[in-house]
Amino acid sequence: MQKIAVLGSTGSIGTSALDVISRFPDRFKVSSLSANSNTGLLSRQIKRFRPRAVSVVDKRRAREFAKTHRRLRVYEGAEGLCSMIREVEADMVVVGIVGSSALLPIMTAISRIRRIALANKEAVVMAGDIIIREARKKKVSILPIDSEHSAIFQCMASGGGSGVKKIYLTGSGGPLLKTSKKELRKVTPQMALNHPKWKMGRKISVDSATMMNKGLEVIEAHHLFGLEVKGIEVLIHPEAVVHSMVEFVDGSILAQMGPCDMRVPIQYALTYPGRDVSPVKQFNFSKIKALHFYSPDLSKFPCLEMAYEACRCGGTYPCVLNASNEIVVREFLKGRIRFTDIAKVIQRVLGLHRDSGNPGLEEILEADRWGREKTKEILNVVHS
Ligand SMILES: NC(=O)c1ccc[n+]([C@@H]2O[C@H](COP(=O)([O-])OP(=O)(O)OC[C@H]3O[C@@H](n4cnc5c(N)ncnc54)[C@H](OP(=O)(O)O)[C@@H]3O)[C@@H](O)[C@H]2O)c1
Repeated sequence: MQKIAVLGSTGSIGTSALDVISRFPDRFKVSSLSANSNTGLLSRQIKRFRPRAVSVVDKRRAREFAKTHRRLRVYEGAEGLCSMIREVEADMVVVGIVGSSALLPIMTAISRIRRIALANKEAVVMAGDIIIREARKKKVSILPIDSEHSAIFQCMASGGGSGVKKIYLTGSGGPLLKTSKKELRKVTPQMALNHPKWKMGRKISVDSATMMNKGLEVIEAHHLFGLEVKGIEVLIHPEAVVHSMVEFVDGSILAQMGPCDMRVPIQYALTYPGRDVSPVKQFNFSKIKALHFYSPDLSKFPCLEMAYEACRCGGTYPCVLNASNEIVVREFLKGRIRFTDIAKVIQRVLGLHRDSGNPGLEEILEADRWGREKTKEILNVVHS
């Protein structure tokens, strides 16, 4: 029986991970769960999965929650989440926390747990070099859950991890693929959240609309698979059947295909290296008339180009890109800025940033703070 900690259990990835886990009662047992503030859903998950401990980051909610769950160990705050990872035994951790808040939990998990099923991409964007270096040092396996990276991981297994020439990172193009560049100014949060293929959390849905998500994925792939940026090509693939491809030096190209259901990559990470039956719908090739692939319009989606550039520059640039993006996406979702302001503000912040070169964890956290503060300063000018 493998004990699994599910971090961000109340989110889109977390609930899908619990759905997968519930189908293997003889193999997996939930050891701990975590949420930011959604204690209602967390309570229901506790009844069903009976973890040994839970963590609630919002301290006020955590205290109220602890009063009604006296027999359960409840950790509070961001530090409490890391303490739970350190203290509650687990064989594997699923990281479904959104945003930069996942960085310290991931670093803590690397020091304690042998297998990390990683959905969170922001932490890898911020500190990929450090995460990969530490994981190697501690012999911790990082199994990607992001569907594109899971696809690449599965294709790469064919070459035993070597002989890779290039990666094709596919993306459906998001909800605004057919919206003209001129119309982007008028895009509302509701329009941006309306993803045609995937049902996901709010932040990643907006990132998909700006194509920042694909940019973050380029940086994630660079770290997870040790490839130069020029070896990672983004392709728009509206049917979202091919989840990514790997080209090898002998000219072979392998693609991983399947339905758009995150339970597939989550289950693969949990059962790796084996495979097992899953509840997803049988794929029907005869219903697909054609598969299309084309290059993204970088002038329409400048966030993708900015992410490529941040990755090429390295150092603290990707971290600042991510920090600024987290703030502007939040502001956009609150209706305070236009869709087109997202890229403009991030561009200005990156233009003001001076890299400290080969950063350690402290410099990364400092760059994250700087990126957030600078973005808020610029937003004040945009608001006034
Ligand atoms: N959704 C997908 O299909 C998908 C696909 C590929 C990759 N990913 C990546 O997976 C991650 C999670 O995405 P998601 O769509 O599942 O997000 P989501 O639905 O918004 O869920 C986020 C989870 O993180 C928790 N959380 C929020 N703020 C936190 C904080 N400060 N500290 C600790 N926990 C916090 C939330 O708790 P509350 O519910 O209490 O707020 C929730 O459990 C993201 O990095 C995303 O890019 C997602």
